[in-house]
Amino acid sequence: MRLLFLGDLVGRSGRVAVVEALPGLRERYRADFVVVNGENAAGGFGITEPILTELLDAGADVVTTGNHVFDQRETLVFIERADRLLRPINYPPGTPGRGAGLYKAANGADVLVVNAQGRVFMADLDDPFRAVDRELEACPLKTGADASLIDFHAEATSEKQAFAHYVDGRASAVVGTHTHVPTADEQILERGTAYISDAGMCGDFDSVLGMDKEEPLQRFLTKVPNARFQPALGEATICGVGIEIDDQTGLARAIAPIRLGGSLSQTEPAFWLPEG
Ligand code: FE2
Repeated sequence: MRLLFLGDLVGRSGRVAVVEALPGLRERYRADFVVVNGENAAGGFGITEPILTELLDAGADVVTTGNHVFDQRETLVFIERADRLLRPINYPPGTPGRGAGLYKAANGADVLVVNAQGRVFMADLDDPFRAVDRELEACPLKTGADASLIDFHAEATSEKQAFAHYVDGRASAVVGTHTHVPTADEQILERGTAYISDAGMCGDFDSVLGMDKEEPLQRFLTKVPNARFQPALGEATICGVGIEIDDQTGLARAIAPIRLGGSLSQTEPAFWLPEG
């Protein structure tokens, strides 16, 4: 089966690009299941219920998040009824929402999606390693799920790599998010888990992490906040990965980056392109 993952949508630029492109991408790649990280979709900070609906209507099966999940206060309420919106699973007990779910793909397969957050240079949440263990044990490949994808939302590449090795062979794919910069280390790990340290963002790369570059630059120069961060509004590059899953084992056969539009170099998974 074919899993399409798109990285962190930042503001209107990233959101509009994904909403416009996703129906065509689903078709072009014949994707069976689509996950997008939407934690920066609402003006760069959090997500609203109308935006979630817009992303699901455009063809996302699940929307993951991270440290900005509750930036919009309404999310504390609507996340309880939004079973396709995930927040990091290792928030303290009692936090609204859920961190994992089992979903039906277009090909009929059951896909486990887990969202977890790292702890290095980030908030001191519960242990993401053990939290994900519990989900993978409850829903193992082949018997509990046909495929499983973990969005590991973290700052440090060391923690992301260690985490991926920890679940290698037990999950179909670990896709890193949060840094907004795509990495070039996509690979199939030793025991069959597809991995990339960061999928990159869907947003304007003529920016600082998707934000208009003026205010971040001034803060580095002066250490004084002058204004709110505003998303950059230029053309977005859609960043993500395509992952081919072996239907027999649930493990990954191939992973390749996607970068479309905007200012980054362009690439698509060759193994998904129509021949000729
Ligand atoms: Fe983040």
